[in-house]
Amino acid sequence: MTKSEQISPSDQATPTEPVASPKSAGHSRRVFLFKISMLVNGAVGAFLAVPIFGYLLGPALKKSSSENSWINLGPLSDFPEGETRLVNFRNPVTTEWDGQTGDIPCWVRRVSGSDFQVFAINCAHLGCPVRWFSQSKLFLCPCHGGAYYADGSRASGPPERGLFEYDHKVVNGRLVISAGKMPTLATQAQTEAPLTQIEGTSPAGLAAVEQLKPRCSSCQG
Ligand code: FES
Repeated sequence: MTKSEQISPSDQATPTEPVASPKSAGHSRRVFLFKISMLVNGAVGAFLAVPIFGYLLGPALKKSSSENSWINLGPLSDFPEGETRLVNFRNPVTTEWDGQTGDIPCWVRRVSGSDFQVFAINCAHLGCPVRWFSQSKLFLCPCHGGAYYADGSRASGPPERGLFEYDHKVVNGRLVISAGKMPTLATQAQTEAPLTQIEGTSPAGLAAVEQLKPRCSSCQG
């Protein structure tokens, strides 16, 4: 080796850390991008899950806190004795953006003094809104001709029972109703006797059960 070919100490390669190959660099970039995409997906998923869970669980949570609420329908002076009037109240289970659908009408009948009846507006047949006709003193349903007397009991037509009623009371000269629970068969069944009850042990009950048995010969046990 000639003198010009000799390598000075400064030109000598110093030991360095191993240089990543292009293949491993691409792999680590993919892992990094994958982690970033997982983070973004998780953030978007959480962002979308909040309103969805709010939509699904909100009514149930709100209902449990509102179903026992009492709604003020107004002072007793708003309800002349012997008259039946239509009153709207705000459903406590609804949200603010429900608009007019949260307004629930009901029929208030003041018999006398603090003796009231508050009827659900829905027909006991299939739920059409009934109207009060003071001349005939009947509630009439426009859908299938159901009719009810002034006290809400069934008069004629397809309904099998009278109008549903709200629990109510007079507080400080005002009429309030328990409006969180809509009066239906499900809610009233807890406090009332069943509409139809067959006493299997009585002769009449046994006869009724006998009539319900299948008539065909192949059905005889
Ligand atoms: Fe009222 Fe059918 S819905 S009679």
